[in-house]
Amino acid sequence: MKKITIIAAISVCCMAFVSFSNQAKIAVEVPYPEGYREWTHVKSMLISSKDPKQDHSRGYHHIYANEKAMEGYKTGKFPNGSVIVADFIEMSEMEVGIAEGKRKFIDVMIKNTDRYKDTGGWGYEEFDGDSKEKRLVTQIKAGITCYNCHALKAEKDYVYSTYRE
Ligand code: HEC
Repeated sequence: MKKITIIAAISVCCMAFVSFSNQAKIAVEVPYPEGYREWTHVKSMLISSKDPKQDHSRGYHHIYANEKAMEGYKTGKFPNGSVIVADFIEMSEMEVGIAEGKRKFIDVMIKNTDRYKDTGGWGYEEFDGDSKEKRLVTQIKAGITCYNCHALKAEKDYVYSTYRE
């Protein structure tokens, strides 16, 4: 009887630990933006420069916003829960035009003023290719790379793009 109580106590303790560590993980990690291809298309851009400095971003990118982020594009203030995705696709030069190639990576911004208060209320992440797991930046690194550049747009709530009607 005593043994069972101890085992029960240990498993409750372990369960609490597991759920605590999951929460801690979620608190820093930006979730993969499931279904973003069905969100509102904000705008696109083709970076065709041959400059090696543009190697990472060369190609097409299409920007998508969820419903909350669309409120932000309209009002200039993005509510918590806003998610914006920049979908980077390789360019492939054909005789008559420039086609899309493979997905390079996606850049994600998610608004949560408590969770990401050190980076202007936005969490930043980059997912490699079509992967939902392979993260190319961590929150700490994102604070230096992504955030530093987006901070130049602090007066626009850290968002560069504007919605093309
Ligand atoms: C050197 C500056 C710079 C850096 C570094 C940078 N961005 Fe951006 N980002 C931009 C610009 C400029 C745009 C607007 C592109 C457009 O209008 O098509 C943009 C657009 C975006 C968008 C669409 C929302 C918006 O602000 O328009 C997301 C999402 C995004 N970036 C995420 C990231 C992530 C994640 C990182 C880090 C991995 C990152 N960015 C690093 C300059 C930067």
